[in-house]
Amino acid sequence: MSEEIKGFSKLSKDKKIEWLTKTCFRDSNSAKKILTQYWNSNNYLQKLHDEFSENTISNYYLPFAIAPNFLINEKIYSVPMTIEESSVVAAASKAAKFWMKHGGFKADVINEEKTGQVHFIFHGEKKIISEYFDFVKPLLFKNSRQITKKMESRGGGINDIQLIDKTSDLKGYYQLFATFNTVDAMGANFINSCLEKFSKTFSDSINKFNRVGFKKESIEIIMSILSNFVPNCLVEASVACNVSDLNKLEPKSKNFAQKLVKAVEIANIDIHRAVTHNKGIMNGVDAVAIATGNDFRALEAGVHSYASQGKYKSLSEAIIEDGIFNFKVKLPIAIGTVGGVTNLHPLVKIALEILQNPSSKELMKIIASVGLAQNFAALRSLVTSGIQKGHMKMHLSNILNKFEVSEKEKKSAFTYFKNKIISNSSVEKFIKKIR
Ligand code: MEV
Repeated sequence: MSEEIKGFSKLSKDKKIEWLTKTCFRDSNSAKKILTQYWNSNNYLQKLHDEFSENTISNYYLPFAIAPNFLINEKIYSVPMTIEESSVVAAASKAAKFWMKHGGFKADVINEEKTGQVHFIFHGEKKIISEYFDFVKPLLFKNSRQITKKMESRGGGINDIQLIDKTSDLKGYYQLFATFNTVDAMGANFINSCLEKFSKTFSDSINKFNRVGFKKESIEIIMSILSNFVPNCLVEASVACNVSDLNKLEPKSKNFAQKLVKAVEIANIDIHRAVTHNKGIMNGVDAVAIATGNDFRALEAGVHSYASQGKYKSLSEAIIEDGIFNFKVKLPIAIGTVGGVTNLHPLVKIALEILQNPSSKELMKIIASVGLAQNFAALRSLVTSGIQKGHMKMHLSNILNKFEVSEKEKKSAFTYFKNKIISNSSVEKFIKKIR
């Protein structure tokens, strides 16, 4: 158990670590050693990372890996992925290699609209608030110009603002519902700044609108915030090949292509399977999002809410038509390639450069393709050998590292486990035997 502390954020990094290690660890020296071991000796770099967050005490490493051979819209990408799950990059790379030989991924951005809301309460007549909205709407645009100027010069800005009546769901509840184009930025700061300006203009302009009894206090602004539900910020990625070519990939499996289709059908009708199926897609989506400095929590929220419209179902679709296996995914992907940490984090800059500095539209297509590749790889394993074989093979290194094995021991473990079942206990037994 930890204990209460006041003014933690004001302590120096050393003092924070000193307090924390003394409070939470029996062996405070070894905890301190591990925490400081991850500090970067380059002071500039360390300060940069310290300042990404409040109360930073160390750096948390994740692998920065590459999945090569992604052929997307006739262009080859080596895709940077940041993820701790050992089999994900291997699976993506394997799928990419297969699809490269079969026409690659086709990807298209359907729409890239983002949204935000000003939530407010008004208990008066609907007619008054509607008329006031028509009166104030041009002012909402005009008073935000300072914020929107730069975005407009890049081709984006506020698309529209509407008044939404939600009073049948919650007494007196209305929204200003705004749509935005944030071009190459994820645009969270831009949208939230616009929304806060709308809310101020919306309350402050009432005195300019002469209606008896309608005053500033008639409207109670509750909050102004973007929405991570972005069903109109959509990208589609697809692959297709002859069923006979697909079946050649798994010659030992009977009806491999049909089984893939069935696996997707199951994910469409059963929520337990659908969530896991979609999680597999998100393995790829999140890994590219993290590597490119994007907010993967926003993506998770957006994708799962999109999947749950009506009834939670699979984000991918698979059909066989005229001997062709067609596989596609449609994902709401609100990301950016400028702003946020994209211009700050040196590895994010490298990741974007590896992708040839894509526009946000291009990155949406890459992310959706990796998501589809990941889904394909997961289903391929699931309907054939099961995922544990590949998973544990990749995980063998991790298990071996736990036992602090030598390079020689590692080598013999890899040879020994080539055709055997890998588990924590079987590896432990093997290590004991050879030591
Ligand atoms: C594991 O991270 C992802 C899978 O569970 C996805 C799936 O079941 O489709 C293998």
